[in-house]
Amino acid sequence: MRCHEEGGELILTNAPVAMRLGAINKLADDVKALVIPCDVTSNDDMINLITKSKEHFGGGVDFILHSVGMSINMRKGKSYTEIDYLANQKTLDISAISLHCLLATTMKLDAINDWGSVVALTYIAAQRVFPDYNEMADAKALLESVTRSFGYHYALKKHVRVNTYSQSPTRTTAGSGVKGFDGFISYAEKMSPLGIATAEDCANYIVTLFSDLTRYVTMQNLFHDGGFSFTGVTESVIQQMEK
Ligand SMILES: NC(=O)c1ccc[n+]([C@@H]2O[C@H](COP(=O)([O-])OP(=O)(O)OC[C@H]3O[C@@H](n4cnc5c(N)ncnc54)[C@H](O)[C@@H]3O)[C@@H](O)[C@H]2O)c1
Repeated sequence: MRCHEEGGELILTNAPVAMRLGAINKLADDVKALVIPCDVTSNDDMINLITKSKEHFGGGVDFILHSVGMSINMRKGKSYTEIDYLANQKTLDISAISLHCLLATTMKLDAINDWGSVVALTYIAAQRVFPDYNEMADAKALLESVTRSFGYHYALKKHVRVNTYSQSPTRTTAGSGVKGFDGFISYAEKMSPLGIATAEDCANYIVTLFSDLTRYVTMQNLFHDGGFSFTGVTESVIQQMEK
């Protein structure tokens, strides 16, 4: 929505099965976007998405947001120490390898314009332990690694920036799937000197990362969390502990 407000022309996508449940068509109407289904674990779907996007725009795109994550083990309530490995492969495939597949496909089909920008959404569980974030922590660590490694090659090839963006906890379908999410949010509130960043603030920051004002930012993990990531403790937490 924020990209649309700033004049961006958009294509929206999601897994075909998710489209039946969500409100993607309503959003597409609001932002005048074409919708192209894509299961990110399917190479054919990915090629179709990128090819049709190029046809639609009559050339490459300037920016891409990777906002995909799913953990089957979390859904099934498996603890980190008892995960099912086939399900874990699926989690890594959907949540991390899909970024590699996206970048490899756009590079092969020359689908991102010079100085374009790709942003993938991640979480601080890639750096610090959040026990209930489970196998998604490993998926996010891999996502951030792909960002650095592919970012290097895409910078040399086409000046394309690739970054991950690490957001405060936000109430969404995936967010609410994390065990103890309410406690998670109130802890983050107490530990963030600026308070937790809202979904709208998230969108604002990502618009800057898509703009030409951040052309030399690449291969980074960018925290947007009200200071949470660098705060050791706050008075509010100490007060709570002393109760
Ligand atoms: N909500 C939070 O607190 C929070 C915090 C930091 C980062 N993130 C990240 O933000 C991103 C978006 O998550 P969200 O919180 O908006 O939840 P969400 O559940 O709305 O978004 C995840 C999306 O991934 C899609 N998806 C799952 N499997 C797919 C597949 N095989 N192919 C294509 N799409 C598929 C889902 O349909 C869904 O639309 C995720 O990467 C998540 O890890 C969320």
